[in-house]
Amino acid sequence: MKIVRSLVVLIFFSVVLWNCQKKEEVNITNTSEFIAQDVDFENFRNWVKIIESPNALSNDGRAHTDAARVIWIKQNTKPNPNEQYPIGTILVKEVQGGYGIVAMVKRGGTYNAEHQYWEWFKLDNNGKIISRNASSLCNNCHALAKSSDYVFSQK
Ligand code: HEC
Repeated sequence: MKIVRSLVVLIFFSVVLWNCQKKEEVNITNTSEFIAQDVDFENFRNWVKIIESPNALSNDGRAHTDAARVIWIKQNTKPNPNEQYPIGTILVKEVQGGYGIVAMVKRGGTYNAEHQYWEWFKLDNNGKIISRNASSLCNNCHALAKSSDYVFSQK
């Protein structure tokens, strides 16, 4: 009887472990803090496109500049209503006309906790990190999209 019980316990933990490994394949980390590096932005132009627009979108031109823009998400994860994007979520926005490339990463931990744990980035043309911070400029304007966890563009 004892053996059977041990076996059941063993199988249970194997399944749990296997499921954890499966989750890692989709590349959203299970850790409580995700500190993005250059490598995490590689090939961002091949990610899931949320928006491609030749013009300024809604929001009355408040959005960066009025030039053409493309917005990508690394995995097409969406929070349920009133939930947050998972830690490790990365969104990149490229604006034509010299404005450049910005990104937001759900860093988690205690980082920028008053603003939903987002870290703000500027990237160069190859997706390498130029700067990263908890900029109050980015925080305050994106706070207008608080009901969708600071993300304006939904697919
Ligand atoms: C004055 C308001 C404003 C400021 C300041 C601002 N943003 Fe945005 N941002 C927007 C709006 C509005 C959108 C979505 C509309 C669009 O891009 O067409 C957006 C979109 C984005 C997106 C794509 C995801 C999304 O929310 O749709 C990223 C990434 C982004 N911004 C990063 C940044 C970073 C980094 C900074 C600071 C350097 C910043 N933003 C500052 C208004 C702002």
